[in-house]
Amino acid sequence: DRADLRVRQVGGRVGAHIEGVRLGGDLDEATVASVRAALLRHKVVFFRGQDHLDDAEHQAFAARMGPLTTAHPTVDTGSGRVLKVTADKGMAANAWHTDVTFVDRVPAISVLRAVALPPYGGSTVWANCVAAYEALPTSLRALVDDLWAVHTNSYDYAQLDEESEEPDAHYTRADFTSQVFETEHPVVRVHPETGERAFVLGHFVKGFTGLSTSESTAIFHLLQNRITKLENTVRWTWEPGDVAMWDNRATQHYAVADFDTHYREMRRITVAGDVPVAIDG
Ligand code: SIN
Repeated sequence: DRADLRVRQVGGRVGAHIEGVRLGGDLDEATVASVRAALLRHKVVFFRGQDHLDDAEHQAFAARMGPLTTAHPTVDTGSGRVLKVTADKGMAANAWHTDVTFVDRVPAISVLRAVALPPYGGSTVWANCVAAYEALPTSLRALVDDLWAVHTNSYDYAQLDEESEEPDAHYTRADFTSQVFETEHPVVRVHPETGERAFVLGHFVKGFTGLSTSESTAIFHLLQNRITKLENTVRWTWEPGDVAMWDNRATQHYAVADFDTHYREMRRITVAGDVPVAIDG
Protein backbone atom coordinates (compact mmCIF):
# COMPACT_ATOMS: atom_id res chain seq x y z
CA ASP A 1 0.00 0.00 0.00
CA ARG A 2 1.02 3.59 -0.58
CA ALA A 3 1.65 5.24 2.76
CA ASP A 4 1.50 8.83 1.46
CA LEU A 5 -1.90 8.43 -0.13
CA ARG A 6 -4.52 10.17 2.01
CA VAL A 7 -8.07 8.82 2.09
CA ARG A 8 -10.52 11.08 3.89
CA GLN A 9 -14.08 9.90 4.37
CA VAL A 10 -16.63 12.41 3.07
CA GLY A 11 -20.00 10.87 4.04
CA GLY A 12 -20.83 8.68 7.03
CA ARG A 13 -21.74 5.67 4.88
CA VAL A 14 -20.35 6.39 1.44
CA GLY A 15 -17.65 8.42 -0.29
CA ALA A 16 -14.02 9.35 0.30
CA HIS A 17 -11.67 11.99 -1.04
CA ILE A 18 -8.27 10.64 -2.09
CA GLU A 19 -5.35 13.04 -2.02
CA GLY A 20 -1.76 12.57 -3.09
CA VAL A 21 -2.39 10.89 -6.46
CA ARG A 22 -1.87 12.19 -9.98
CA LEU A 23 -4.16 9.98 -12.04
CA GLY A 24 -2.88 8.46 -15.27
CA GLY A 25 -2.05 5.24 -17.01
CA ASP A 26 1.43 5.09 -15.48
CA LEU A 27 0.46 4.73 -11.81
CA ASP A 28 2.55 2.18 -9.92
CA GLU A 29 0.94 -1.07 -8.79
CA ALA A 30 0.90 -0.10 -5.10
CA THR A 31 -1.04 3.08 -5.84
CA VAL A 32 -3.53 1.25 -8.06
CA ALA A 33 -4.04 -1.33 -5.29
CA SER A 34 -4.56 1.38 -2.65
CA VAL A 35 -7.03 3.28 -4.83
CA ARG A 36 -8.94 0.06 -5.52
CA ALA A 37 -9.06 -0.82 -1.82
CA ALA A 38 -10.44 2.66 -1.03
CA LEU A 39 -13.00 2.30 -3.82
CA LEU A 40 -14.21 -1.07 -2.54
CA ARG A 41 -14.49 0.27 0.99
CA HIS A 42 -16.05 3.70 0.33
CA LYS A 43 -17.92 2.84 -2.94
CA VAL A 44 -17.20 6.22 -4.55
CA VAL A 45 -13.88 8.07 -4.42
CA PHE A 46 -13.14 11.65 -5.46
CA PHE A 47 -9.93 13.20 -6.76
CA ARG A 48 -9.39 16.95 -7.08
CA GLY A 49 -6.95 18.79 -9.29
CA GLN A 50 -6.69 16.28 -12.15
CA ASP A 51 -6.72 19.02 -14.81
CA HIS A 52 -3.88 17.33 -16.67
CA LEU A 53 -6.21 14.54 -17.83
CA ASP A 54 -7.34 14.43 -21.43
CA ASP A 55 -9.54 11.68 -22.89
CA ALA A 56 -6.55 9.43 -23.58
CA GLU A 57 -5.07 9.70 -20.07
CA HIS A 58 -8.52 9.40 -18.51
CA GLN A 59 -8.96 6.18 -20.47
CA ALA A 60 -5.46 4.97 -19.59
CA PHE A 61 -6.17 5.45 -15.89
CA ALA A 62 -9.57 3.71 -16.11
CA ALA A 63 -7.92 0.77 -17.90
CA ARG A 64 -5.74 0.22 -14.81
CA MET A 65 -8.95 -0.67 -12.94
CA GLY A 66 -9.92 -3.39 -15.43
CA PRO A 67 -10.87 -4.04 -19.06
CA LEU A 68 -13.02 -1.24 -20.50
CA THR A 69 -16.45 -1.54 -22.08
CA THR A 70 -17.64 0.38 -25.13
CA ALA A 71 -18.80 3.88 -24.20
CA HIS A 72 -22.45 2.83 -24.11
CA PRO A 73 -24.33 -0.24 -25.43
CA THR A 74 -26.61 1.78 -27.70
CA VAL A 75 -24.90 5.11 -28.32
CA ASP A 76 -22.56 5.27 -31.28
CA THR A 77 -19.51 7.25 -30.17
CA GLY A 78 -17.32 6.07 -33.02
CA SER A 79 -14.55 3.80 -31.79
CA GLY A 80 -14.09 5.72 -28.54
CA ARG A 81 -14.78 4.52 -25.04
CA VAL A 82 -15.58 7.97 -23.75
CA LEU A 83 -19.23 8.87 -23.18
CA LYS A 84 -19.97 12.59 -23.14
CA VAL A 85 -22.67 13.29 -20.58
CA THR A 86 -24.14 16.69 -21.31
CA ALA A 87 -27.92 16.76 -21.26
CA ASP A 88 -29.28 15.78 -17.91
CA LYS A 89 -32.71 15.07 -19.30
CA GLY A 90 -31.75 13.50 -22.60
CA MET A 91 -29.85 10.94 -20.62
CA ALA A 92 -32.21 10.84 -17.67
CA ALA A 93 -29.23 10.95 -15.31
CA ASN A 94 -31.37 13.02 -12.96
CA ALA A 95 -33.04 9.92 -11.65
CA TRP A 96 -31.53 7.39 -9.26
CA HIS A 97 -29.76 4.68 -11.20
CA THR A 98 -26.89 2.27 -11.43
CA ASP A 99 -25.22 2.60 -14.84
CA VAL A 100 -26.38 0.30 -17.65
CA THR A 101 -28.17 -2.34 -15.55
CA PHE A 102 -30.24 -3.38 -18.58
CA VAL A 103 -27.46 -5.59 -19.99
CA ASP A 104 -26.29 -8.96 -18.67
CA ARG A 105 -22.83 -7.85 -17.64
CA VAL A 106 -23.42 -4.70 -15.63
CA PRO A 107 -20.35 -2.41 -15.73
CA ALA A 108 -18.15 -2.75 -12.64
CA ILE A 109 -16.71 0.73 -12.30
CA SER A 110 -17.39 4.15 -13.82
CA VAL A 111 -14.81 6.94 -13.97
CA LEU A 112 -16.33 10.40 -14.49
CA ARG A 113 -14.37 13.57 -15.23
CA ALA A 114 -15.70 17.12 -15.14
CA VAL A 115 -15.01 18.94 -18.40
CA ALA A 116 -17.37 21.95 -18.26
CA LEU A 117 -19.28 22.95 -15.16
CA PRO A 118 -22.21 25.33 -14.71
CA PRO A 119 -21.75 28.41 -12.46
CA TYR A 120 -24.03 26.81 -9.87
CA GLY A 121 -25.72 23.47 -9.26
CA GLY A 122 -24.94 20.30 -11.20
CA SER A 123 -23.67 18.23 -8.29
CA THR A 124 -23.96 14.45 -8.22
CA VAL A 125 -25.25 12.29 -5.37
CA TRP A 126 -24.32 8.66 -4.70
CA ALA A 127 -26.07 6.09 -2.49
CA ASN A 128 -24.58 2.99 -0.88
CA CYS A 129 -26.47 -0.13 -2.03
CA VAL A 130 -24.61 -2.38 0.42
CA ALA A 131 -25.37 -0.29 3.52
CA ALA A 132 -29.03 -0.07 2.45
CA TYR A 133 -29.23 -3.85 2.25
CA GLU A 134 -27.45 -4.33 5.57
CA ALA A 135 -29.91 -1.94 7.27
CA LEU A 136 -32.93 -4.04 6.24
CA PRO A 137 -34.94 -5.73 8.98
CA THR A 138 -35.10 -9.52 8.59
CA SER A 139 -38.69 -9.38 7.32
CA LEU A 140 -37.67 -7.27 4.35
CA ARG A 141 -34.57 -9.36 3.71
CA ALA A 142 -36.84 -12.36 3.32
CA LEU A 143 -38.80 -10.41 0.71
CA VAL A 144 -35.83 -9.35 -1.42
CA ASP A 145 -33.35 -12.21 -1.07
CA ASP A 146 -34.81 -14.28 -3.88
CA LEU A 147 -36.64 -11.55 -5.77
CA TRP A 148 -35.65 -10.79 -9.38
CA ALA A 149 -36.21 -7.62 -11.39
CA VAL A 150 -36.52 -6.91 -15.11
CA HIS A 151 -34.32 -4.03 -16.28
CA THR A 152 -34.76 -2.29 -19.61
CA ASN A 153 -33.38 0.79 -21.34
CA SER A 154 -36.69 1.63 -22.99
CA TYR A 155 -38.63 2.02 -19.79
CA ASP A 156 -37.64 5.22 -18.09
CA TYR A 157 -36.84 7.35 -21.11
CA ALA A 158 -40.33 6.68 -22.40
CA GLN A 159 -41.71 8.48 -19.35
CA LEU A 160 -39.98 11.69 -20.28
CA ASP A 161 -41.87 14.28 -22.18
CA GLU A 162 -40.44 15.21 -25.58
CA GLU A 163 -40.03 18.86 -24.69
CA SER A 164 -37.82 18.10 -21.74
CA GLU A 165 -35.01 17.06 -24.08
CA GLU A 166 -32.13 19.51 -23.97
CA PRO A 167 -31.47 21.30 -27.26
CA ASP A 168 -27.69 20.91 -26.93
CA ALA A 169 -27.80 17.22 -26.06
CA HIS A 170 -25.00 15.25 -27.65
CA TYR A 171 -27.26 12.25 -27.91
CA THR A 172 -31.02 12.02 -28.10
CA ARG A 173 -33.34 9.62 -26.39
CA ALA A 174 -33.53 7.72 -29.67
CA ASP A 175 -29.78 7.05 -29.38
CA PHE A 176 -30.25 5.53 -25.96
CA THR A 177 -33.02 3.22 -27.10
CA SER A 178 -31.83 2.42 -30.63
CA GLN A 179 -31.58 -1.15 -29.43
CA VAL A 180 -33.90 -2.30 -26.67
CA PHE A 181 -32.49 -4.53 -23.95
CA GLU A 182 -34.47 -6.38 -21.35
CA THR A 183 -32.55 -8.32 -18.73
CA GLU A 184 -33.39 -10.02 -15.45
CA HIS A 185 -31.14 -9.55 -12.44
CA PRO A 186 -31.43 -10.62 -8.82
CA VAL A 187 -32.55 -7.71 -6.63
CA VAL A 188 -29.68 -8.58 -4.29
CA ARG A 189 -26.30 -9.53 -5.73
CA VAL A 190 -23.17 -10.86 -4.08
CA HIS A 191 -20.35 -8.47 -4.86
CA PRO A 192 -17.68 -10.41 -6.77
CA GLU A 193 -14.75 -8.74 -4.96
CA THR A 194 -15.97 -7.97 -1.45
CA GLY A 195 -18.58 -10.71 -0.99
CA GLU A 196 -20.95 -8.05 0.34
CA ARG A 197 -24.63 -8.14 -0.60
CA ALA A 198 -25.85 -5.17 -2.62
CA PHE A 199 -29.11 -4.05 -4.17
CA VAL A 200 -29.29 -4.03 -7.98
CA LEU A 201 -32.14 -1.59 -8.64
CA GLY A 202 -32.52 1.96 -10.04
CA HIS A 203 -34.54 3.58 -12.80
CA PHE A 204 -34.05 0.91 -15.44
CA VAL A 205 -36.23 -1.47 -13.42
CA LYS A 206 -39.48 -2.21 -15.21
CA GLY A 207 -40.93 -4.56 -12.63
CA PHE A 208 -40.31 -7.59 -10.43
CA THR A 209 -40.64 -11.11 -11.76
CA GLY A 210 -43.99 -12.63 -10.84
CA LEU A 211 -45.47 -9.43 -9.38
CA SER A 212 -48.09 -7.14 -10.88
CA THR A 213 -47.28 -3.60 -12.01
CA SER A 214 -48.87 -2.04 -8.94
CA GLU A 215 -47.12 -4.47 -6.57
CA SER A 216 -43.83 -3.83 -8.38
CA THR A 217 -44.30 -0.06 -8.09
CA ALA A 218 -45.01 -0.26 -4.36
CA ILE A 219 -42.03 -2.51 -3.59
CA PHE A 220 -39.73 -0.55 -5.89
CA HIS A 221 -40.49 2.68 -4.03
CA LEU A 222 -40.18 1.03 -0.65
CA LEU A 223 -36.67 -0.22 -1.51
CA GLN A 224 -35.55 2.87 -3.42
CA ASN A 225 -36.61 5.05 -0.47
CA ARG A 226 -34.31 3.07 1.77
CA ILE A 227 -31.41 3.16 -0.69
CA THR A 228 -31.67 6.91 -1.31
CA LYS A 229 -32.30 7.96 2.29
CA LEU A 230 -30.08 11.01 2.73
CA GLU A 231 -28.00 9.42 5.51
CA ASN A 232 -27.09 6.70 3.00
CA THR A 233 -25.76 9.17 0.42
CA VAL A 234 -22.95 11.57 -0.35
CA ARG A 235 -23.24 14.70 -2.50
CA TRP A 236 -20.27 15.99 -4.47
CA THR A 237 -19.99 19.60 -5.58
CA TRP A 238 -17.78 19.49 -8.64
CA GLU A 239 -14.78 21.71 -9.25
CA PRO A 240 -12.85 21.89 -12.53
CA GLY A 241 -10.36 19.02 -12.70
CA ASP A 242 -12.37 16.71 -10.45
CA VAL A 243 -12.72 12.98 -11.09
CA ALA A 244 -15.21 10.66 -9.38
CA MET A 245 -14.88 6.91 -9.59
CA TRP A 246 -17.64 4.65 -8.31
CA ASP A 247 -18.20 0.98 -7.77
CA ASN A 248 -21.22 0.45 -10.00
CA ARG A 249 -21.84 -2.91 -8.28
CA ALA A 250 -22.47 -1.21 -4.94
CA THR A 251 -23.97 2.23 -5.67
CA GLN A 252 -26.65 4.26 -7.36
CA HIS A 253 -26.23 7.88 -8.34
CA TYR A 254 -28.24 10.92 -9.37
CA ALA A 255 -27.02 13.94 -11.37
CA VAL A 256 -28.88 16.93 -9.93
CA ALA A 257 -30.50 18.94 -12.77
CA ASP A 258 -30.52 22.35 -11.06
CA PHE A 259 -28.33 24.39 -13.41
CA ASP A 260 -31.00 25.84 -15.71
CA THR A 261 -29.74 26.17 -19.29
CA HIS A 262 -26.05 26.39 -18.37
CA TYR A 263 -23.66 24.03 -20.08
CA ARG A 264 -22.34 21.04 -18.15
CA GLU A 265 -20.15 18.41 -19.73
CA MET A 266 -18.80 15.29 -18.07
CA ARG A 267 -16.96 12.38 -19.66
CA ARG A 268 -17.40 8.85 -18.47
CA ILE A 269 -15.36 5.72 -19.04
CA THR A 270 -16.69 2.36 -17.92
CA VAL A 271 -14.87 -0.72 -16.71
CA ALA A 272 -16.48 -4.04 -17.68
CA GLY A 273 -18.27 -6.07 -15.03
CA ASP A 274 -19.85 -9.47 -14.73
CA VAL A 275 -23.31 -10.98 -14.58
CA PRO A 276 -24.73 -10.26 -11.09
CA VAL A 277 -24.82 -13.42 -8.95
CA ALA A 278 -27.74 -13.99 -6.57
CA ILE A 279 -27.32 -14.98 -2.91
CA ASP A 280 -28.08 -18.60 -3.71
CA GLY A 281 -25.57 -18.60 -6.57
C1 SIN B 1 -23.93 9.42 -14.93
O1 SIN B 1 -25.09 9.18 -14.64
O2 SIN B 1 -23.12 8.55 -15.17
C2 SIN B 1 -23.50 10.87 -15.01
C3 SIN B 1 -23.48 11.51 -13.68
C4 SIN B 1 -23.23 12.98 -13.79
O3 SIN B 1 -23.28 13.54 -14.89
O4 SIN B 1 -22.98 13.60 -12.75
